[in-house]
Order: sequence, then C-alpha cells, then structure tokens
Amino acid sequence: MADPILEGRGLTKRFGGLIAVDGVDIAIERGEICGLIGPNGAGKSTLFRLISGVMRPTAGTVTFNGRPITGRSAHDICVAGVAVTHQIVRPFRDMSVVENVMVGAFFGHRPRPRGRGGARAAAMEELEVCGLADRAESPARSLTLGGHKRLEIARALATRPKVLLLDEVLAGLNPTETDRTLDLVRTVRERGTTIVMVEHNLRAVRGVCSRIVVLVEGRKIVEGDPDAVLTDERVVSAYLGTAAHA
Ligand SMILES: Nc1ncnc2c1ncn2[C@@H]1O[C@H](COP(=O)(O)OP(=O)(O)OP(=O)(O)O)[C@@H](O)[C@H]1O
Ligand SMILES: [Mg+2]
Repeated sequence: MADPILEGRGLTKRFGGLIAVDGVDIAIERGEICGLIGPNGAGKSTLFRLISGVMRPTAGTVTFNGRPITGRSAHDICVAGVAVTHQIVRPFRDMSVVENVMVGAFFGHRPRPRGRGGARAAAMEELEVCGLADRAESPARSLTLGGHKRLEIARALATRPKVLLLDEVLAGLNPTETDRTLDLVRTVRERGTTIVMVEHNLRAVRGVCSRIVVLVEGRKIVEGDPDAVLTDERVVSAYLGTAAHA
C-alpha cells in the first residue's frame, strides 16, 4: 500500500501467558472501509485498543498519517484523529443524547468547538447524520439498542476523526436497524472518514467493506478482497463453515 493512513507493525499484546495479539502487521488505506473479522477471542478488540491507545502494545508500532503514535495516551490519539466505538456501549445514561455527543466534541480533534454553544451545534450536526436529532433532549437511557449504537457513533464522530474504528456496532440489532446502521457507515465514509469495522455479521461485512483482514488466535491469517477472503478455506475452517453462508 503506497500511503496508508494507519499502519500497525508487529503489534503484539501479552496478558501473562496469553498472547492476545501476535505480531500483527496491518495497513489501512485512506478512504477505505476495511472489515476486521475472526472468531471470538481472536484479538480484534485488543488490536483496536492497541491502535487507539487504550492499551500499550507489548511490542510493535502504530503509525498514523506517517507519524508514530505508539504508546501515546488514548486522549492524544483521539486528538490526532483516531476514534473508537466500544463493543459494550456505556453512555452517560442520565445525560441527554445531545450532551453525550457534546462530550465527544470537547474531547476530540482540534480545532475544538467554541464553548457550550459551539459544542452543542457540532453535536447536533452529528445527531442529524446519525438519525437521532429528534431524540436530542431525551435521556440517553431511553434509547433502543440501535439508538445506543448510533449514539456511540455520533459521539465518536463529534471528535472529528480521520479514522473511525467500529467494534461490533451491528451486534444485537434487528435487520431494519442493521440496514440503517450500514447506511450510516457508508455516509460517514463518503464524508471522508476512513473506517475499520470489527464485525461478526459476515453478510454485512461483504456488503459494505472493500477489503477484509482476518485474525485467528491473535494472528493475521488472510487479507484481501471480501469474496476471496470469505471463501478462503482457512477462513471457512476458522468459522467452522459459517463463512460459506455469508
Ligand atoms: N484485559 C485483559 N486481560 C486478560 N486477558 C484479556 C484481556 N482482554 C482480552 N483478553 C483475552 O485476549 C483474547 C482476545 O480478546 P479480544 O477481546 O481482543 O477478542 P475479540 O476478537 O474481540 O473477541 P470477541 O469477538 O468475542 O469480541 C481473549 O482470550 C481474551 O480473553
Ligand atoms: Mg471483541
């Protein structure tokens, strides 16, 4: 890849005797939607944590926009332009939907919005994109699971990321909510944000991703074009045949 926006080299994370991520090289192309798949416990969320600064890698480097970011704090990495949504969504439940997103606006990429009014305007813009503008003043706890997932995306978008890491944003959603969220992912990409998404719904991955990287037991085993990857026998056997039905 000539000019990746994000690159991990030899990324490794040990937890005592367990190697959760084992020497992973990953390069993300500017403007792509890249799928990151693999069975439970493969190390996908841990890899996101190493990239986003939530955890320090045991070994390896992360480069963003040509600059090393390895070992920098999650806040610094977010300000630089890498945002992550969490597999387990934990909004401030008693704050309103718009206030939750304002937290992202204050936290993220510079220039920061001016004061509360600026943050509110920035937050409303993202709620509009995420289809939650009409729920802006409701308490976050009143949202459905689909609403919570879109709130998590709106909060991440309010940090104005160049790269957005989505960890299982489709998990638990019904088919209508799934389609709505996939449309949102495409819209975010069209607005210029590069996306890496961890996802177990392989049909969705095939529909939205231009490239797929597969992790199994902490190692990258295959990457490339979705159709080729999802029919690769190493991937099919890692999923015990479920990939064949994607
Ligand atoms: N903080 C931690 N301490 C110890 N072990 C951990 C920690 N976080 C993850 N692990 C272990 O590392 C391995 C990879 O976990 P990880 O959550 O990255 O997998 P995953 O691919 O995201 O799985 P899933 O699809 O179930 O979300 C698992 O064996 C997990 O139990
Ligand atoms: Mg995970």
